Amino acid sequence: MADASIWVADMSGGHGGSNKVVIRSGTAGDIGAILGLWRDAETKASATDDIAGLRTLFDREPDAVLVAEDHGDVVGALIAAFDGWRGNMYRLAVHPEHRRRGVARALVSAGVSRLRSRGARRITALVAHEQAGASDFWMNACFELDPRTTRFVKTF
Ligand SMILES: CC(C)(COP(=O)(O)OP(=O)(O)OC[C@H]1O[C@@H](n2cnc3c(N)ncnc32)[C@H](O)[C@@H]1OP(=O)(O)O)[C@@H](O)C(=O)NCCC(=O)NCCS
Repeated sequence: MADASIWVADMSGGHGGSNKVVIRSGTAGDIGAILGLWRDAETKASATDDIAGLRTLFDREPDAVLVAEDHGDVVGALIAAFDGWRGNMYRLAVHPEHRRRGVARALVSAGVSRLRSRGARRITALVAHEQAGASDFWMNACFELDPRTTRFVKTF
C-alpha cells in the first residue's frame, strides 16, 4: 500500500462480535471483492465497473480506492481521487448486511482527509440520486446539493 494511512472506525450497533471496521487503501488484490460488493450492493453499474477499469485506476492513482474491511471481508468501498483541481468521490457502496453502522460515513471521512492532504480544496461527490437513501446520506455527510451544475458524459 503506497499510502500507509489506516483508519479503524469503532461502529456502534449490533452486527455481532467486534464493531471495529478497518478503512484502508485498496489494492489490485481487492478488485474481485470490490466488483462483487458493487454487485451485491445493487448499485447502478457504471461504464467502467470491470477489472480493466479498476486496474487503470490503481495504476494511475494507487491510493484512490478506500475499502472498509470487517473480519477480512470487504464490506464497503469508495473511490476518492484527486485530479489536481478537484477531489472527486465515486461509487460509494456498502454491503446491505452492513448498512446503518456508520461504514459509509467512515469511508467518506477517510476520503475527505486523504483528498485534503493531497491539496483538494473542493470535493465533488457523484451521486446516483435515484438510489434509496443516497441523497440523505450525502446531506447527512454535510455535502451540499449544487443546483447550478449537471453532468454531461461521453462514454467510449
Ligand atoms: C447509501 C449507502 C452508501 C449508505 O451506507 P451506510 O454505511 O449504510 O451509511 P451510514 O451508516 O454511514 O449512514 C450515515 C447516515 O446517512 C444517512 N443514511 C444512510 N442511509 C440512509 C437511508 N437508506 N435512508 C435515509 N438516510 C440514510 C443517515 O442519516 C445515517 O445516519 P444514522 O444511521 O445515524 O441515521 C448505502 O446504503 C449503499 O451502499 N447504498 C447503495 C449504493 C448507493 O446508493 N451509493 C450512494 C450513491 S453513489
